Amino acid sequence: MTRNHLTPELKLFLLTENSPLYHEPFIDKYTNGIFDSLTRNVFQDPFWSIYWPGGQVLTRFILDEKERILGSMTQNVKKDIIRILDLGAGCGAAAIAAKLMNETCKIVANDISKVACTAIAMNAILNNVDIEVLCENLLKKPLEDSYDVIFVGDLLYDEEIANTLVTWLGDAHERGAQIYLGDPGRHGLNETFRKRLKLIRRYSLPENIKKENYGYDMAIVWEFN
Ligand SMILES: C[S@@+](CC[C@H](N)C(=O)[O-])C[C@H]1O[C@@H](n2cnc3c(N)ncnc32)[C@H](O)[C@@H]1O
Repeated sequence: MTRNHLTPELKLFLLTENSPLYHEPFIDKYTNGIFDSLTRNVFQDPFWSIYWPGGQVLTRFILDEKERILGSMTQNVKKDIIRILDLGAGCGAAAIAAKLMNETCKIVANDISKVACTAIAMNAILNNVDIEVLCENLLKKPLEDSYDVIFVGDLLYDEEIANTLVTWLGDAHERGAQIYLGDPGRHGLNETFRKRLKLIRRYSLPENIKKENYGYDMAIVWEFN
């Protein structure tokens, strides 16, 4: 459990240097090189165990800019319940911060990884917030539910997902969603995507985050238009 990140208000279960597992190369001791699907999911791609720089700055923004996020929305939407989606939630930090931003909001944290969804549920309990966790690939079809706000932390890691996202977010935006992305400059953020984005805030990353993220030294919160 750690608070050593850009949003120390949140306690998060993450894989950190204090964990022996962090220092061990993955050795498939038990199955002689043949991964069962659980082992593969949990330990080969443990995206859930890392709080990515794009997610960190986005969550910092949510915690600091509550009035801005909710204020600009209430001008447009008059609703009793504000619905917020954290897409590709990973460890769930942005979703947890969104709930802390306003207790009456309905928060859905979504990820395609079952292990990430378990991590999100554990982190929500750790921070004493009630959020819904949804484990499915929402990008496979147009968005059925309508959301007032969508947060996307560090999901532009390849062109394929970025191309899918630009269309999908475009639809959601047309249906009234306010959309914020956090990104450290991943290569999925191509020209097509860039044309839809307005820079909201640039954050310098502290040394420990730079060290864990191969030379990224800043990350940006963008608004999708
Ligand atoms: C780089 S991590 C970012 C996690 C978190 N938002 C953060 O910034 O710390 C990307 C996450 O997106 C999830 N993901 C990838 N494709 C997805 C999709 N189509 N729908 C939902 N989640 C997805 C992965 O499982 C992973 O947890």
